[in-house]
Amino acid sequence: MQNLPDVLAASATPKTLQDVLTVTTDTCIAISDALKQGSLAGILGMAGNENVQGEEQKKLDVISNDMLKEALVACPSVRAIASEEEDYIVPANTQGEYFIAFDPLDGSSNIDINAMVGTIFSIYRQTGDKPAVEEDFLIPGKEQVAAGYVLYGPSTMLVLTTGDGVNMFTYDPTKNVFTLTNQNVQVGKDTQEFAINMSNQRFWSTNMQNYVNDLVKGKEGIRDKNFNMRWVAAMVGDVHRILCRGGIFIYPWDNKDPSKAGKLRLMYEANPMAMLLEQAGGKAHTHTQRILDIQPEAIHQRVAVILGAANEVDKCLSY
Ligand code: AHG
Ligand code: MN
Ligand code: MN
Repeated sequence: MQNLPDVLAASATPKTLQDVLTVTTDTCIAISDALKQGSLAGILGMAGNENVQGEEQKKLDVISNDMLKEALVACPSVRAIASEEEDYIVPANTQGEYFIAFDPLDGSSNIDINAMVGTIFSIYRQTGDKPAVEEDFLIPGKEQVAAGYVLYGPSTMLVLTTGDGVNMFTYDPTKNVFTLTNQNVQVGKDTQEFAINMSNQRFWSTNMQNYVNDLVKGKEGIRDKNFNMRWVAAMVGDVHRILCRGGIFIYPWDNKDPSKAGKLRLMYEANPMAMLLEQAGGKAHTHTQRILDIQPEAIHQRVAVILGAANEVDKCLSY
C-alpha cells in the first residue's frame, strides 16, 4: 500500500508543494490527537471571543488555528496564510511560493457532541518580491494547485487533489502515515440523497423552496423517485459522504441577513470543496455561477453553495 509521501513523489507535484502538504497534514495529525483527548485535556467549550465574522469561537477553533498557523508560517515554501479564524492574512516568507487558505476546524458545533469535524485547505501558487498583502490572494478558485480536507471521524482521513483526480488516504496510527485507500474517486452523475438545513426553508428563495419541495414529494411528485436526507452539520462530513456514495449538498442563499450571500466561506470552504467535486466528476455552483470562476472580493467573503452529483446540480439550477 502506498503512503502519502510516495504518492506525492510519484506525481508531478513540485517539491516545494510537497513540503507545504507535508506540513499541513502533519499538523492535522496533531490536531486529530488533540481532538481525541477531548474533555480530558480541557479543550472543549467556548474560547470566550468572536472571530472577524462575528461567530463565537470554540477553544478548539483557536487551538487548531494556532497549530496550523505556527507550522505553516515556519515553512519556507509558504508566502502567506489566510484563515477563517484570523482577521487578516498572515504573511510568512516573502520568497515562499504558496498561499494557503484554511478552515482550521469545520463543523465546530459538532465538537461538544463528539461528532465529525475536519480541517479544510486550499493552496495557490503566488510569488512576488514584496511581503504579501490581502489583494495578492484574491485569486479565483480555478487557480488552486491543490485542495483537500482532513476528516476527524471514526478514522482520520485525508482527501486530496493536486489537480489530477481525488485520492483518499486513511491515517495509520501504528505507522504515523496517511495510506492511500481510495484512488481516483468518482461521484455518480445522479443521486437520490440530498443535504440541506431544512429549518431555514422559509428564508430561501421561492425557486429553492420549489426544488426542495419536489425532492420531498418523492415518487408522488414530478421527480418520480424517493429521496433520502442527511445533514452532518459539518460541510466536511457532508462532502465526504457525497464523495463516498453520491448526493447533493446545498447551503443556499437566504434572506436571514441580506448582507450575507450565504453562510459558507468562498476561500476556506466553497473553493476547496468545489475543486474536489469537479475533480471527482461532480459540479459546484452558486445560484448563478460556477464557484471556481468567482473573482473573490475579500478573503472572508461568503457564497451560496450547491455541489455534488452533476445532473442533480443541473436540475437544482434549472429551478
Ligand atoms: P464552521 O464550523 O467552520 O463555522 O462551519 C460550519 C458550517 C458548515 O460546516 C456546515 O455545513 C454548516 O456550517 C452547518 O450549518 P447549520 O448550523 O445551518 O447546520
Ligand atoms: Mn467551516
Ligand atoms: Mn471553522
